[in-house]
Amino acid sequence: MSLTIDILTVLPELLESPFNHSIIKRAKEKGLLEIRVHHLRQWAVNEYGQVDDYQYGGGAGMVMMPEPLAAAIEALSKDRPFDEIIYVTPDGERLNQRIANGLSLKGSILIICGHYKGIDQRIRETYVTKEISIGDYVLSGGELAAAVLVDSIGRLIPGVLNDETSALFDSFQDGLLAPPVYTRPASWRGMDVPGILLSGDPRKIEDWRHEESVRRTEERRPDLLGEE
Ligand code: ADE
Repeated sequence: MSLTIDILTVLPELLESPFNHSIIKRAKEKGLLEIRVHHLRQWAVNEYGQVDDYQYGGGAGMVMMPEPLAAAIEALSKDRPFDEIIYVTPDGERLNQRIANGLSLKGSILIICGHYKGIDQRIRETYVTKEISIGDYVLSGGELAAAVLVDSIGRLIPGVLNDETSALFDSFQDGLLAPPVYTRPASWRGMDVPGILLSGDPRKIEDWRHEESVRRTEERRPDLLGEE
């Protein structure tokens, strides 16, 4: 099982580094994830590289034109049909672990990064199958949102994480926040690691971690437990 992610952007430089480190780098090296970043200007409407224009009805800010986006999407779709065409936008569905899990099982995804005031509505209606926001704030463009989305998906592709880095115990994976963690030294500035973690009893440790997860979730994110 492997996933190919194509990303369409006017700022490919912003996406050079985020995928070349740590777990996402390893996923690519293992052949489980392929990421291809495409410069939208390749499909510009004129020799000046134009991909945006003033918005109808007036108002500040440019809008990304339909022609370059349509040409790009159609050209890239010829290589492989996309399972999902995702537009990252503050008015999309809020990203969560459930969505990331679902996308990690797909074969081929295209992510469109918006800029300026966003992309022409007709592109959203014609091609886009999912609109995703990474949170209730506005970024300067979709690139950082795309990087967050790819990172959250890439690490969940089956085979990417091993026992040591397993996602099974991540926050949200079981609907709870993760428990606190400790490493050596067992005593630091008068603060001791909880005794149970030193007990060597896996059952007790598991129970303690679960209780701590529930406690933390109740305190910090009661919405996850369905009780505000
Ligand atoms: N583009 C700009 N802001 C964004 C956000 N919060 N989520 C996704 N894409 C965006």
